[in-house]
Amino acid sequence: MSKDLVQKTKNQLIDRILGKKTGTSSKELPPERKSVLAAIPEAYTRFDRLPGYEQMLVPKAAADRLGLDNPFFKVHEAVAGATSRIDGAEYVNFSSYNYLGLAGHPDVNGAAKAAIDRYGTSASASRLVAGERPIQRELEHELAQLYGVEDCVAFVSGHATNVNTIGYLFGPKDLIIHDSLIHNSVLQGIQLSGAARRSFAHNDMVVLDQILTDIRPQFERVLIVVEGLYSMDGDIPDLPTLIEIKRRHKAFLMVDEAHALGVLGKTGKGIHEHFGVQGKDVDIWMGTLSKTLASCGGYIAGERALVEHLKYAAPGFVYSVGLSPVLAAASLEALYVMQREPERVTSLRTRGQQLLAKLKEQGINTGFAEGYAIVPIIVGSSIKSVRFSNQLFAKGINVQPIVYPAVEEKAARLRFFLSTSHSEQNIEFACQTIMTLMRN
Ligand SMILES: Cc1ncc(COP(=O)(O)O)c(C=O)c1O
Repeated sequence: MSKDLVQKTKNQLIDRILGKKTGTSSKELPPERKSVLAAIPEAYTRFDRLPGYEQMLVPKAAADRLGLDNPFFKVHEAVAGATSRIDGAEYVNFSSYNYLGLAGHPDVNGAAKAAIDRYGTSASASRLVAGERPIQRELEHELAQLYGVEDCVAFVSGHATNVNTIGYLFGPKDLIIHDSLIHNSVLQGIQLSGAARRSFAHNDMVVLDQILTDIRPQFERVLIVVEGLYSMDGDIPDLPTLIEIKRRHKAFLMVDEAHALGVLGKTGKGIHEHFGVQGKDVDIWMGTLSKTLASCGGYIAGERALVEHLKYAAPGFVYSVGLSPVLAAASLEALYVMQREPERVTSLRTRGQQLLAKLKEQGINTGFAEGYAIVPIIVGSSIKSVRFSNQLFAKGINVQPIVYPAVEEKAARLRFFLSTSHSEQNIEFACQTIMTLMRN
């Protein structure tokens, strides 16, 4: 660079720091630079032109044109359980994951309040550097016990638990194979990991086995990921067969128990209790604190080497704040109540079976649902699902539509989450209302 050019650049820098107008405005850019910049599409520089946003506006515009109210982001004014107050009115509520009625339970609230008094509301920084609170370890210990495994680690979000665990543990030489209906958080984790990805038809163990037979040797580590209870469909995988398959192909098995904890098994311990298999037979147990456990966060339970590895190296644990003591205390107490009162699990199951049987009796399409806490009504169109949800809302029932892209358009649906707190009458009322609306 010539001396003059160096001086000119220095002057321009000083001017820029002092906020003076310099000769660097785009007006004065060389013509070839201007034409390069002019060729950059608006979609690269404006949020309102991002393709995802524009795509998102299409169904919204269609709904507006049809005069449909937006069924999303409803404001619940108190604890959302079997019923909920929305806009000053009381609704029978099927849109919360309060499976065992523990969100808002006095003992859970009491434990959270006591934790605030003792620890404050924040864990303030990463546990690795800023230290832990006993309540975080107590929760992890209790969860490890529940699965009968060596250890457990809690993250601040269920979604982030999957993204971080899968994203960190696996890499480009590995294969991750998942059920076709697996949750988005798993897909995001796989993308982050850079591993090869294959999916198998929902709950089809024969296809899974065949894919592994065909391609297993091409990869170093292989992870199979399934959900304990499928969040959109309410059915469960064949865990004993999965364990047999993963052993035969030398693969790891990860089970996402987000919806299975508190729901499956005689005492709500999840899918391993349901099938009577050992917790140790699954390599990675994943779960969330946001559903049965009444707070917010996620966990991984398994052997010590897995948990220790994540605690010292997974970016979402190492570089993120520890679980708030308030949330840890709420979830720990929820776990205690669940274990003390297994009748909650039984009555949740009764309500689920009741709803499913009634809908099936009327020939309503409930997809794969097996009557455990999640029962969809497959409507087959996003717009129709929104309309049906709005009609039910007008009759005092809050149930969310699940629309494309969360599910395929032809699988758009209403999804009913049950709670142990629902009464027989709540279910009866919902069924009668559904039937009346469907007939008209
Ligand atoms: C199967 C499954 N895994 C993970 C998550 C993420 O959990 P969270 O909402 O607690 O972040 C969800 C959320 O609903 C889920 O359904």
